[in-house]
Amino acid sequence: MRRVKLPNTDLEISALAYGCMRVAGTWNPAEITAERDTAGQASILAAYDAGYTLFDHADIYCAGGCEEIHGRVLKGTPGMRREIVIATKCGIRFGGDPNPDSPHRFDFRSEHIVRSCEKSLVRLRTDYIDIYQLHRPDYLMDPAEVAEAFVALRDAGKVRYFGVSNFLPSKVSALQRHLGFPLVVNQIEVHLGRLAPFEDGTLDQCVGDRIAALAWSPLAGGWLGEGFDAPDSDPRSKLLRAVDEFAALHRVTRTEIALAWLMQHPAPIVPIIGTTKPTRIRQATKAADLDLGREAWYKLMVAARGEGLP
Ligand SMILES: NC(=O)c1ccc[n+]([C@@H]2O[C@H](COP(=O)([O-])OP(=O)(O)OC[C@H]3O[C@@H](n4cnc5c(N)ncnc54)[C@H](OP(=O)(O)O)[C@@H]3O)[C@@H](O)[C@H]2O)c1
Repeated sequence: MRRVKLPNTDLEISALAYGCMRVAGTWNPAEITAERDTAGQASILAAYDAGYTLFDHADIYCAGGCEEIHGRVLKGTPGMRREIVIATKCGIRFGGDPNPDSPHRFDFRSEHIVRSCEKSLVRLRTDYIDIYQLHRPDYLMDPAEVAEAFVALRDAGKVRYFGVSNFLPSKVSALQRHLGFPLVVNQIEVHLGRLAPFEDGTLDQCVGDRIAALAWSPLAGGWLGEGFDAPDSDPRSKLLRAVDEFAALHRVTRTEIALAWLMQHPAPIVPIIGTTKPTRIRQATKAADLDLGREAWYKLMVAARGEGLP
């Protein structure tokens, strides 16, 4: 697969990342059966074989179960660790953690960040995380405290680079001012069905500060992929028809058009592929070589906006 240089790092990554959020097939670790474990490992190996080098995790994905599945893959696949870039996240705490009455919340306290990272390292069976991300902004974030945790993790060799997720530019800047090194990614929801990052300054900041945008749910959770039929009354139907027209023109799938459209942005935007099906994992890689051209990009942008440009 085509590779891209990750700005502000010495990392070269595949143009598409593989997202491991669904590899356990459940969000309840008690439900990880041997079959689910095997299927999850097969998904990760299919991505590895297809040339994906960036793998995205979070501590909350199946309460660590997804990281554990990947840890078992790493144990059984000599050489894989040094060929891939592992990203994971912390900072979201679900209700009941650690006490039954603890609420759902965000937690960027230094001790929580460091402890979460150390647990991820154990689950993933690795000595270091390549990119450690803060999952969702903590309203009580003290940037100096986050910086303290990041420096401790970096100096201990446990993390190479840091990033954020779902951060608006003001929050990225507030944190960046306290760090002596650049944040290298902002993982955001951006796709043909969600254009806000084009207008709210998020992608402007990515381009200007050379922060890569990792695009989560690049197929909008599935409806931008194959098999979804929107009736004419559905506001998404016009967009899907436009995507299908370009798919027919280029003799590719709807998925490839939706992903290629994202990858045309110079930030760069790196879509995180979420399917667990090996055939779809391989199919998506074709998008990395598809150049839609500027005019087609704008036609799709207009279809996605649902109105003409100013
Ligand atoms: N930072 C955050 O807050 C955040 C939030 C959400 C996700 N993420 C990251 O983003 C990654 C991707 O998110 P996502 O899984 O929501 O992505 P997505 O690809 O937009 O949605 C995945 C869903 O779409 C289906 N799908 C995938 N490819 C398809 C295709 N070609 N045709 C039809 N259906 C298709 C999948 O089903 P099948 O498996 O059956 O193919 C699955 O149900 C996650 O793994 C995670 O790493 C991050």
